[in-house]
Amino acid sequence: MGMCGIFATTNDQDAGKTILSGLKKLEYRGYDSWGIAVKGGGKLRSQKQTGRIAVSKTNLPKSKMGIGHTRWATHGGVTIGNAHPHFDCTGKLALIHNGIVDNYQDLEKKVKGHELAGETDSEIIAHLIEKELKTEKDLFLAVKKVVRLTEGYNAFVVMHQDFPYLVAAKTGSPLVIGVKPGENLLSSDVASLLGHTKQVIFLEDGQIAKIAPDVIRIESYTSAKEIKSVVQTINWTAKSASKSGFPHFMLKEIYDQPSVLTNIAESKVKEARELGKAIAKAKNIFMVACGTASYAALAGQYLFAGIAGKQVNSAIGSEFYYYDGFINTRSLCIALSQSGETIDTLQSVKFAKDRGAKAISLVNVKGSSLDRLSDETILLTAGPEKAVASTKAFLAKVAILLLAAHAMNRKTPHGVIEIKQATRAIRRILDFKYQKYLKKLAVKFKHSHSMFILGRGVSYPAALEAALKIKEVSYIHAEGFAAGELKHGVIALVNQNTPCLVFAPNDETYRDVISGAMEVKARGGLIIGISHKPNPMFDFYLPVPDSGNSTILPNVVVAQCLAYYLALARGLDPDMPRNLAKSVTVK
Ligand code: G6P
Repeated sequence: MGMCGIFATTNDQDAGKTILSGLKKLEYRGYDSWGIAVKGGGKLRSQKQTGRIAVSKTNLPKSKMGIGHTRWATHGGVTIGNAHPHFDCTGKLALIHNGIVDNYQDLEKKVKGHELAGETDSEIIAHLIEKELKTEKDLFLAVKKVVRLTEGYNAFVVMHQDFPYLVAAKTGSPLVIGVKPGENLLSSDVASLLGHTKQVIFLEDGQIAKIAPDVIRIESYTSAKEIKSVVQTINWTAKSASKSGFPHFMLKEIYDQPSVLTNIAESKVKEARELGKAIAKAKNIFMVACGTASYAALAGQYLFAGIAGKQVNSAIGSEFYYYDGFINTRSLCIALSQSGETIDTLQSVKFAKDRGAKAISLVNVKGSSLDRLSDETILLTAGPEKAVASTKAFLAKVAILLLAAHAMNRKTPHGVIEIKQATRAIRRILDFKYQKYLKKLAVKFKHSHSMFILGRGVSYPAALEAALKIKEVSYIHAEGFAAGELKHGVIALVNQNTPCLVFAPNDETYRDVISGAMEVKARGGLIIGISHKPNPMFDFYLPVPDSGNSTILPNVVVAQCLAYYLALARGLDPDMPRNLAKSVTVK
């Protein structure tokens, strides 16, 4: 059904209210429609709406148990009929679903004659369970049988009027049980549970759970034996997952970055050394990631080459399979992911492990699928990241890779110094006056048709990431380029007043990138220079103190802020860009 948010409770004072606030915390996962079903007076009642959650309370009766869902459509348009929860013909069973049931067309044939309200794959599952319940009198066993028939990477939660428990099943998409005796809960992520409990169980693929206020029973689909799962304690605070007075999560997370880097400089040295050792030992090394994380990987590729003289390849998650011939028992796969749930990244790691490779992941969410799948994990410890556009997780990944590169060169302390320099540089960017200037620039360029961003060397991935941030939140067409590539085509697009951001740090790329910028300027483009020193050819100048190899960190922060203010200047909500979801759990 797509990439969605799931939230459920088994025994609350007001389940509808609690679920609504849980869903609001999960909206980053998908937000084109939402719905809640509660069990009130023995009957199921529901409320569904298209669009984002605009209400502050539901019109549902006070009840104890309920399930809720925010949807990001993949199968079927954005309609009330396609919004979850879905019901069976009797109206006694409600189901929410995250993922895509790959074989839904085959399964649909099994529920011929049933009344379907929409055109989703999810609804078919509700009706299949209804059918199963005609012979199988136990809801848990009925769901188990039906889920076994499904193909793909999914998560389902089922509530039935006649049964005092919820059934949760996972074949791929994340599901976390919030352990709170007397009131157990369920969610797609940990952050939304923090206000309720810090004790969680991560369901594994192939597991099904019966959840009542005082019961958590987990089995595998294929056996009736109980699985004793480990209850994990999460050390994030509810406050760290709130806006803390900032108008948006994106800005809050941008401002979190100095402390994220300080933390990495202080506490990640040992793990970075271990990563360096693993890289030195491996025959061929691939970093795999998607979106922003893939640019962190590309930055890592330049850093390992430049600092450690080591070839470490980077690959986009969905493209990794095409390197099949190079992945074997002597390979190392380094996966980078904020959520640890991005399906293409996960699949790449599975693929590498199947070929005998070792997998180390850099991941922000402890207990996430990637964390559990990897042989070793380095936690980013950046705290919850909620804005759809990733910011602090990018910096954390690059900082750890930078430390590892220095460690390989036996110069870890120098890496620490560079990260501290970058932290100071970022603090200057986050200063009120600097921000005011960025806001002014954003207002000036808010009507731009497109923007170009140039960089060379490690500033090339910085340019790609800057362009991605601008596209994601302001919807302005932005392209990042290796400056040397300009004249091979892109320059044809430059005309009068096209804004062009140029990363010109104090490194070997400076002269060449400036001459690339000249080519743009000669065609009427406006140059916004991001550099340690002013240059007469800059139309606008954004100073970034030199921080050695880590200058990429403050450079990207400038672009993050500019993207944020461009979104505001255009009247957009930077936290929830259209068509995007934070956690991409479908292929
Ligand atoms: C989505 C998000 C991006 C993110 C990417 C990878 O596309 O919108 O911001 O960079 O997924 O996410 P991950 O959690 O694996 O870092």
